[in-house]
Amino acid sequence: MFSKTALVTLTYLSVAFAQQVGTLTAESHPALSFSDCTEGSCKQSALSVTLDSNWRWLHTTSGSDNCYDGNEWDTSLCPDGETCASNCALDGADYPGTYGITTSGSELELKFVTKGTYSTNVGSRVYLMADDSNYKIFNLKNKEFTFDVDVSNLPCGLNGALYFVEMEEKGGLGTASNKAGAKYGTGYCDAQCPHDIKFINGVANSEGWVPSDNDANAGSGTLGACCSEMDIWEANSISAAYTPHPCSVTGPTACTGTDCGDGDDRYQSVCDKDGCDFNSYRMGDKDFYGPGGTVDTASKFTVVTQFITADNSTTGDLVEIRRLYVQGGKVIQNSVTAVDGIDESDSITTDYCTAQKTAFGDKDAFSERGGLSVMGDALERGMVLVMSIWDDHAVNMLWLDSTYPTDADPAKPGVARGTCATDSGKPEDVEKNSPGASVKFSNIKLGSIGSTY
Ligand SMILES: *[C@@H]1O[C@H](CO)[C@@H](O)[C@H](O)[C@H]1NC(C)=O
Repeated sequence: MFSKTALVTLTYLSVAFAQQVGTLTAESHPALSFSDCTEGSCKQSALSVTLDSNWRWLHTTSGSDNCYDGNEWDTSLCPDGETCASNCALDGADYPGTYGITTSGSELELKFVTKGTYSTNVGSRVYLMADDSNYKIFNLKNKEFTFDVDVSNLPCGLNGALYFVEMEEKGGLGTASNKAGAKYGTGYCDAQCPHDIKFINGVANSEGWVPSDNDANAGSGTLGACCSEMDIWEANSISAAYTPHPCSVTGPTACTGTDCGDGDDRYQSVCDKDGCDFNSYRMGDKDFYGPGGTVDTASKFTVVTQFITADNSTTGDLVEIRRLYVQGGKVIQNSVTAVDGIDESDSITTDYCTAQKTAFGDKDAFSERGGLSVMGDALERGMVLVMSIWDDHAVNMLWLDSTYPTDADPAKPGVARGTCATDSGKPEDVEKNSPGASVKFSNIKLGSIGSTY
């Protein structure tokens, strides 16, 4: 009788308190204003951002013992993913003090390294909220998305990124053991099918967890978190790229094995990991972007991205992703490609992507995963806005700002992506030499084509 009662009680507890929320720090989302535009006018609304759950303190539901410390799980609290999710709670965040995240009006600043009382934080990732418990969902077809960015304080090896991923509006709240939801930044996924996500579909990714050998805060579990990704902006002061990454899956999808596309299985992934990128330097205009460039990264500028559909409707086939810049009151058209084998182009189209893959000798996983059309399906279903600052423990961000692969001839088309040295961007170096780096995003706007700048 006693044991039966105990079993019932435990079952109840695991349902009621699983992946609970801690209350040791109150969660208060930093406010950020956002503009909706139609021709002639923009309307501001007071929104906010939330910190991704991976950065948060994860401790016992009943106390303050760590469930995850450094880059390892506590094996008694987390013998398996389900039990772990029921034993552990995500807590609120001290945004400026612990994470170096501040907002003012329409501006968000993310600082690279923040020394707090208990820990040193490196990088961050935040999501735009519609209200306190829902991510804002963007439908970008036949729309224009615009923001200002200051990359002047982002050296080689860093990435101040602004992009969209197909997360769920509630962050998976109510899925399996997830009681925290979007308010606590759960449910991340992207086209790299990352394995470093601590909870996927409400279950801890603690099984098969291997602590990183070069990242004191990260590791990788058996599960990966895949979903379509539209990179509007991956950049530092030296190089910038915008890149659609379609996936064959709809919404956040846990992967195992070859579906994740790890290592040699890269092109077996359900997602197009390479994407179809437009990096002005890589596409042959070496003076367009950088300090003193046509787009001068020494000061703030505006980035405009237009999602063009075949019939100019919000449900038409996505056929083109256009880019332009505004700086010092002047509209700057995107750079024009100057690469043998690629017709002159200043935007991403199917023809551009196909020609680029051929000219650079890259595998065309982009069209294999459905290309612009499938990317457009995700844009139409709706995506969440992500802003982050990060360094790259895998390949030192050299794919963005240097010669990559590092042993290839930089004269070979597609190899040179920026002027950073091939030995730059090592996390241990950038964290030591540029802890005060930061990115500022501001004046985020969504509107009809031509309405936001
Ligand atoms: C879509 O809009 C563009 C620009 O205004 C115009 O040139 C084009 O003809 C339109 N296409 C269709 C199918 O209506």
